[in-house]
Amino acid sequence: MSALVRLENVSRHYDTASGRVTAVDDVSIEVEEGEILGVIGYSGAGKSTLVRLVNALELPSSGRVFVGDDELTALPERDRRRVRRTIGMIFQQFNLFHSRTVAGNVAYPLKVAGVPAAERDRRVAQLLHFVGLLDKAHAHPEQLSGGQKQRVGIARALATQPRLLLADEATSALDPETTADVLALLKRVNQEFGLTIIVITHEMEAIRAIADRVAVMDSGRVVEHGDVYDVFARPSTRAAERFVRTVLHDRPSAATLARLAEAHDGRLVTVPVQDSPGFTSTVARILGEHRVGSTIVFGGISELQNRSIGALTYELTGADADIDAALAALDAQGIPSITEQVDAAPGGSPNGTAPNGSAPTEEVAR
Ligand SMILES: Nc1ncnc2c1ncn2[C@@H]1O[C@H](COP(=O)(O)OP(=O)(O)OP(=O)(O)O)[C@@H](O)[C@H]1O
Ligand SMILES: [Mg+2]
Repeated sequence: MSALVRLENVSRHYDTASGRVTAVDDVSIEVEEGEILGVIGYSGAGKSTLVRLVNALELPSSGRVFVGDDELTALPERDRRRVRRTIGMIFQQFNLFHSRTVAGNVAYPLKVAGVPAAERDRRVAQLLHFVGLLDKAHAHPEQLSGGQKQRVGIARALATQPRLLLADEATSALDPETTADVLALLKRVNQEFGLTIIVITHEMEAIRAIADRVAVMDSGRVVEHGDVYDVFARPSTRAAERFVRTVLHDRPSAATLARLAEAHDGRLVTVPVQDSPGFTSTVARILGEHRVGSTIVFGGISELQNRSIGALTYELTGADADIDAALAALDAQGIPSITEQVDAAPGGSPNGTAPNGSAPTEEVAR
């Protein structure tokens, strides 16, 4: 694979009445040909500014931007326009022409590019068929739902066969179900046409749904980037961790931990789930071999990129030395665990209390 987009130490400042704003701060990332890169961050993190730097609507204050073999930062405006025509965009507010029909919207960029009418009609029909809106060709945008409008936006962005598609909060105005449909369509675009896509979002669910790799932005910086599975499994920054937790509800919160500690006398230990067959039985077997009793008191396992991901919190019972030995044995097998620190357990924990019912419980091994 080779990089289609490359940013080298890119910064973008704005001088405003109230001082200098650094919207993008020393960002270096690459987007590989054919991949979907997700860029996630809270409002104001610099995501849209980053998009404008990639499609050459703006130039960085410093650093270099490459798209294919073109260094945007070294080209005259006329040549930047040529590069811009190879990049498709879709937007949160769809940005359709309300005076034109659905077909007219999709045909527009072809018209601008001077594609002859017959060829244009053929391409428009093909694209509308692809996005499932052939029957709406003569409708006007205001007659469409949000999801349908975004499908028109996607068809229009694809009309001139771009080599890169930028989606800036393309699903943020849609409900969760419609969001899933539009994301699935973008995934199809990526798979069937091999189109490289950059998806900008503040929703980790969108990243989980379609991205191959993710860049996490915070205050203009890319604070973490890597394979989606790796970032979800092992977020290394607070910002990434917070986004991951909005999707994976596999770890107990401090409040949940306090309740669990009250209800369970044993040691609470969280084990991140690994994507290997028989993982949970391996854990149970090693614990059993050390005479450690275990009950799952919290957790969840789900799938990401066809691999298992999640964590299980166990209540471990038995002699302290046995538990220590069991955890060491797990660690030696490449299965690390986290002994939960419970803040300020109020009073002594009540003896023999049953699990409090708010968490799934399951006997694993005794
Ligand atoms: N043209 C501009 N002039 C001055 N400041 C700007 C300009 N464009 C962006 N900024 C500032 O740069 C920072 C990043 O803005 P940007 O729009 O890139 O964030 P974002 O991550 O896209 O946010 P959102 O999720 O709300 O769309 C913000 O503090 C914003 O106010
Ligand atoms: Mg934005």
